[in-house]
Amino acid sequence: MSQRVYNFGAGPAMLPTEVMEEVQQEMLDYQGHGASIIEISHRAPPFLEILEETESIFRRLTGLGSSHVMFFMHGGAQMQFSAVPLNLMARKEKRSAVYLITGKWGVLAEEEARKFGSTRVALDGKPLGFQKIPEWEEVLDPETSYVHLTSNNTLYGTQWQEYPDTGKVPLVSDSTSDILSRKEDYSRFGLVYAGLQKNLGPSGLALVLVREDLLGLALPQTPKLLDYQLAHEQRSLANTTSVFSIYVTLKMLRWVEKQGGVAVMEQRNREKSKLLYDVLDDSELYKAVADPENRSICNVTFRLDDDEMEKRFLKQSLNEGLYALKGHRDVGGIRASIYNSMPLEGVKALADFMKDFERRET
Ligand SMILES: Cc1ncc(COP(=O)(O)O)c(C=O)c1O
Repeated sequence: MSQRVYNFGAGPAMLPTEVMEEVQQEMLDYQGHGASIIEISHRAPPFLEILEETESIFRRLTGLGSSHVMFFMHGGAQMQFSAVPLNLMARKEKRSAVYLITGKWGVLAEEEARKFGSTRVALDGKPLGFQKIPEWEEVLDPETSYVHLTSNNTLYGTQWQEYPDTGKVPLVSDSTSDILSRKEDYSRFGLVYAGLQKNLGPSGLALVLVREDLLGLALPQTPKLLDYQLAHEQRSLANTTSVFSIYVTLKMLRWVEKQGGVAVMEQRNREKSKLLYDVLDDSELYKAVADPENRSICNVTFRLDDDEMEKRFLKQSLNEGLYALKGHRDVGGIRASIYNSMPLEGVKALADFMKDFERRET
């Protein structure tokens, strides 16, 4: 097999080689069925078993109880930017939602929600260049339909450390880039969604967790495939789902469980991110983007002195097998995405490279 790189891309992100090998081995013949899982009906027992096990492992890993239903929806995370207001705006007559904006994904989510009700941006990190998550505390109007936030800001490398208390108003989290990266009580949210492409599997679907009392509230114009009630009733199979994505997600969840669960993932992610933040904090060359209080354990972002230096950094790191370190086009600089599948060795290799590069270049 060709050499696999350490892939620091933000998503689709790397998956563990053992998961990829298992997928490869089963590609032509899934468990003696003489056909690939992508050639078997999504309503046939082999796939229904996959769906069921995926849900039960996710619940086991997170401790999520029966208060919340779980299903998959098409369209990745951004389709949820529409699905959330379509399903929750009508929770209250005023049809108004609060958005806490700490990065580009929050901006886009709020823009989409405006089409289906009124929105209020109660927290906006933009004046701080999204490098910091501002403090926010407010007595909310109980007639607010929901409050939306992005738990980890993939582009800027900031992450909520403690979520705000929204009382009886349901808190909605876009957890695309940190789901299963640290221990979380997902039942404290009214709704959680996450595109699969970081910690769960291939891109294209979103995992959605909804508190049961928030089902059945969809606006009349809600497209059938975005209706949470229907997705729950049809167990993610209102139409032909992406069987391959869910199949790989099951393998990822089994892998997380085999590693020791979410607590182990968190411990590793803290260790990995600390290695990089320590290099940044000791350096004259690198400048961390995120404020120390809001640093993400999933995406570590930094800048070098100038564009030329960043280009050299990217070119040389690539030669060392350290792939996709270029920051998001809106932010620039360097971003190391170190999700669950990134091994400690990969991060050590990057930290060593960073130290060598600084020695050579300064
Ligand atoms: C936090 C967050 N939300 C939303 C998205 C958009 O995901 P998708 O491309 O699946 O719509 C991303 C993508 O990286 C993300 O990191």
